[in-house]
Amino acid sequence: MDTGKAIASALRKLEYGVYVVSMGKGTAGNAFTASWVSQVSSEPPMISLAVHNKHQSSRLIANHGAFVVNIIAQNHADVARIYYGPAESGYEKLKDSTVQSSPVTGTAMLQGVDGFLDCKVVNTAVVGNHTLFLAEVVAAQIQADTQILTSSSSKLHYAG
Ligand SMILES: Cc1cc2nc3c(=O)[nH]c(=O)nc-3n(C[C@H](O)[C@H](O)[C@H](O)COP(=O)(O)O)c2cc1C
Repeated sequence: MDTGKAIASALRKLEYGVYVVSMGKGTAGNAFTASWVSQVSSEPPMISLAVHNKHQSSRLIANHGAFVVNIIAQNHADVARIYYGPAESGYEKLKDSTVQSSPVTGTAMLQGVDGFLDCKVVNTAVVGNHTLFLAEVVAAQIQADTQILTSSSSKLHYAG
């Protein structure tokens, strides 16, 4: 196997959560299925999110300075499938969704999910073909017994 294929195969085995990240206001906002989410600080609580530079969501998050990580339960892979529609589609994927505003940043978030992280962007860095958004988690909620959707449980993978 050549080096590039070996690297891709190894990276594909890493375990991720599968979330829906939303941004913008109300049903005019947008959302996309996201896995490249990770905690990077506990004081203050911060996460990173990597978004492909070509995805409209990258520009929208930069414009709004905030996003919500909607936490999806393991038995709701159908929700994750709704939002990974064609990149660069140019349409607002929340227009047919039931949304509410997140408590601190007022960002559109999905109703009826098992939890959320309300995130305020504090820094960005272009890293190869993705933009890394570093964000403080300013509010959150989770159902205590939630088993989150993961790459291995859903068989949904992101190759970047
Ligand atoms: C399981 C899974 C995880 C994904 N994770 C990411 C991610 O972390 N970052 C990213 O930029 N795209 C990710 N994608 C791809 C986006 O969901 C997809 O390209 C989407 O259309 C982007 O939305 P947009 O074009 O409205 O910005 C993932 C797709 C899947 C199926």
